[in-house]
Amino acid sequence: MTLKFVVMSDLHVMPEGELSMTLDTGARLQQAVDAVIARYGDADFCVLAGDLTDLGQPAAYEHLKTIIARLPIPVHITLGNHDDRPAFLDVFGADFAAETGKIDKIIDIKGYRIILLDSSEPGRVDGVLEAAQIAWLRGHLAEAEDRPVIVILHHNANALHINSDTIRILEPDAFVEALKTHPDIRQVIAGHVHLTSTATWRGLPFTTLAGGHYSVTVDQAHVPMRRLAGPGQMAFVLGTEDSTTVLFDDFIDGNEEIVLAVD
Ligand SMILES: [Fe+2]
Repeated sequence: MTLKFVVMSDLHVMPEGELSMTLDTGARLQQAVDAVIARYGDADFCVLAGDLTDLGQPAAYEHLKTIIARLPIPVHITLGNHDDRPAFLDVFGADFAAETGKIDKIIDIKGYRIILLDSSEPGRVDGVLEAAQIAWLRGHLAEAEDRPVIVILHHNANALHINSDTIRILEPDAFVEALKTHPDIRQVIAGHVHLTSTATWRGLPFTTLAGGHYSVTVDQAHVPMRRLAGPGQMAFVLGTEDSTTVLFDDFIDGNEEIVLAVD
């Protein structure tokens, strides 16, 4: 009974027909949906981990909604700094808001608890987890008892030793202290940095995926970091009783199959 789910992040969808940083993010998301249909149709669900749209217009959320309607599995959503919460709720429905007022969510499945946290804060590029969210998180971690937990949010909490460390979760100590109240945090998965990384920090495992928009080079000297057109990347997470694995699927610029000649 393996838990399987897909994480997409940083979709940066624009209203139909408009580009973001020269990229057709709607078309890229269509490719991501095609990849899920081709490879992950038996997954339990898909998470969209924020920066769903580039500029937060209602028309961009409508475009997003149209594209993800083709996904053959349930979709769970939280927001990033490029999103607009009122516009999102207008298009997707008020039910997405948790009692915290933000787009937080609990998913209990196959012995796991998955917790989505909305780290977006209007007017800010960095991430904020409000006191009410930390209290909500602590409560739901306690309720999970010893079940394995995976936390997914837009902003990375840990420093990656790159230029954008200044826009990670603001004041992450309360978040880390809350996570440490639970005995089995399997992963903390984020997007935001448009870069693939894996790390341990304060004894906890942190991962970022590059997401669907541009990617950045790891270039400490170049500010801002150079932007690359690819890959378009999603994560595929597999959870068993004693293991949690994150695989990265570059659905754009990374999946060309090697075809060997057969004599
Ligand atoms: Fe982003």
